[in-house]
Amino acid sequence: MDKIVVLDFGSQYSNLICRRIRDINVYCEVLPYNTSIKELKKLRPNGIIFSGGPASVYFDDSPKPDKEIFGLGIPILGICYGHQLIIDHFGGKVKRTSAREYGRADLIIDNNCDLFSTSDNKIKCWMSHGDSAESLPDGFEILGHTENSFSAAIANQDKRLYGIQFHPEVVHTENGTEILKNFSQKISRARPTWNMESFIESTIKDIRQRVGNEKVLCALSGGIDSTTVAALLDKAVGKNLKCVFVNHGLLREDEEALVTGLFKDYLQTEVIYVNAEKQFLQKLKGVCDPEMKRMIIGEEFAMVFMDVVKKSGPFQWLAQGTLYPDVIESGVSKGPASAIKTHHNVGGMPKWLNLKTIEPLRTLYKDEVRRVAKLLGIPNEFVQRHPFPGPGLAVRIIGEVTAEKIRIARSASKIVEDELNAAGLYHKVWQAYASVGDDRAVGVVGDERIYGHIAIIRVVESIDAMTADWIRLPYEIIGKISDRITNEVEDVSWVTYSVSSKPPATIEPQ
Ligand code: XMP
Repeated sequence: MDKIVVLDFGSQYSNLICRRIRDINVYCEVLPYNTSIKELKKLRPNGIIFSGGPASVYFDDSPKPDKEIFGLGIPILGICYGHQLIIDHFGGKVKRTSAREYGRADLIIDNNCDLFSTSDNKIKCWMSHGDSAESLPDGFEILGHTENSFSAAIANQDKRLYGIQFHPEVVHTENGTEILKNFSQKISRARPTWNMESFIESTIKDIRQRVGNEKVLCALSGGIDSTTVAALLDKAVGKNLKCVFVNHGLLREDEEALVTGLFKDYLQTEVIYVNAEKQFLQKLKGVCDPEMKRMIIGEEFAMVFMDVVKKSGPFQWLAQGTLYPDVIESGVSKGPASAIKTHHNVGGMPKWLNLKTIEPLRTLYKDEVRRVAKLLGIPNEFVQRHPFPGPGLAVRIIGEVTAEKIRIARSASKIVEDELNAAGLYHKVWQAYASVGDDRAVGVVGDERIYGHIAIIRVVESIDAMTADWIRLPYEIIGKISDRITNEVEDVSWVTYSVSSKPPATIEPQ
């Protein structure tokens, strides 16, 4: 498949570049800046983009790609730090500038070559840099300038090397997507064949090839990701698929009925239901650390799967609904983005389970999964359900997971969802729930003093969970949710509303 690779030099925008390229129907992946030449050759990208990054190219310890990359004959577009890397590599000079540029600037286009063939002669662009070129290497020409950057866009067109000091991936750059489109499709000749129909077709083919006649166990979580995996596998391997739904005691309200109902109506695949509530909660006793919780839950899932394999197997494969942001945020890519949370399902299951892992959605973002699910005919109410983490309420309960805190998180979350539904807002937000910790606050119920729990409401919007913003819910809705929680959920005396965005916070509190 034609593709573009983004090498990540630590920019907060690397993923955004990838998203923009996929939006123009070209497949794109983000890889660490030090990806080996061998691996790059194996991937055979049509073009490579160097992302921006916080470092300065003139320091010895700044991240640099393998020098051989410039000799591969593959078109390269450097953005910001990536632009400076190209200048530095070919013998130009980059230095700290006295006229730093942050924010909007006018880019005057001096040469309407391929990169700017669809742009006006003057466009607004988004700058964010403290270093800039002092002199350009031989063989490079200026394509555009701003008031403070004489070489804001450069190229060596013979070698198909391009550098831009500004960020075409952010919405503040006019025509930014057109510039990325010109690089991907005109200069790199990547064909716009990436769409969800072609993804489904090639994934089914790929699964069939890998799995052959072997048996697959698909772990369902009740979320859209694993449901979509099951639907893909159903099409690919049919009767060689069985699904397992594990109740770990940390599910949303009414989850079991909903999931088993959906699978009965929509897929004819057998679903093995395992009630492992006691087992999971026993193992989580006394555990407060979020990463430890994830590890224990991951291990316990593996134990349950082993049991299922013994009783209902043999199986050779275990299928999971891992998504691209899980992979990136778990730090598996080993790029400069450090591990934020090690989602338990990333990186496969323990070796002793003796199952090969299949993760058909590993390259997709959530909105892409939803499009796949729709195309596969999964009912809309399910497609539009909010994401729910694999470790369930354990990552919505701050501190130790206790039966009381599970009850509170579960019932209060149901109230949050119901009230958003009633206000017609449920489908307009990314996630909405209530979490609970160990803090308590004094309240009065009737004439009695209680020292109850504090329920924290969190309602966020997001496109792919990589960043998120809190929703400015109308006060009346927050008030109604608060009244209902304190009236209906025993032992809650206070309700608070979370007003932190991601970053610096994350979506789940643990
Ligand atoms: P955070 O809290 O990292 O969440 O901003 C981003 C998205 O991922 C979900 N999430 C998880 N999903 N296993 C999962 O399968 C996990 O350990 C996990 N932790 C967070 C979260 O609900 C949000 O959609």
